[in-house]
Amino acid sequence: MALRSDNISTFIEIAQHLFRSTSLPGAGRNVAARVFERLRAPSDDEIRHGARYPACEWLDAALATVTAQSAEMGPVARAIKALEPQLGWSRRTSGSHGSPRYIEDHVHGMICGPGGAESRYDVQLGFSLMAPNTRYPDHSHPPEEAYVLLTPGEFRQQGGEWFDPGIGGGIHNAPHNVHAMRSGDTPFLAIWSLLT
Ligand SMILES: [Fe+2]
Repeated sequence: MALRSDNISTFIEIAQHLFRSTSLPGAGRNVAARVFERLRAPSDDEIRHGARYPACEWLDAALATVTAQSAEMGPVARAIKALEPQLGWSRRTSGSHGSPRYIEDHVHGMICGPGGAESRYDVQLGFSLMAPNTRYPDHSHPPEEAYVLLTPGEFRQQGGEWFDPGIGGGIHNAPHNVHAMRSGDTPFLAIWSLLT
């Protein structure tokens, strides 16, 4: 059986708590509960997508924003920082209505999932990081997912109004739901969990 580092265990424990928040839609809590059920068993094929992208340089500023917004979020910020050397990084390069520099201005950090610190294929647990004043493109995907917002930021679902669920709040996306996110004048960081 694969072993799991203390840093990954710590992050999973903190994230599980955040995804149980009643600030999240019930369907978001439910999908996350199924993700964390699967995460009880470590699984890792040791493939690491360690190549970094320009927006990785926003990580420290985003984590400072996280802790500045809410003292309760200090532990999750420290847990993400501790995992930085093992993260798998990726970017989206397709989708409509993204801001002009969105490719350079965003990055995704995979913690548990393909190419991540614990590389596996049954779930995804990680975060999206964006520079200030970035609009991520409209996109959709088959896996159901939940997000928890850790900084100021806004989401949009199914072409509706932009809304800010608040720090510690989040959204749920049913399979194939079109959704997007955007930052204001501070960096954006949201964690997500997907059932794949
Ligand atoms: Fe998504």
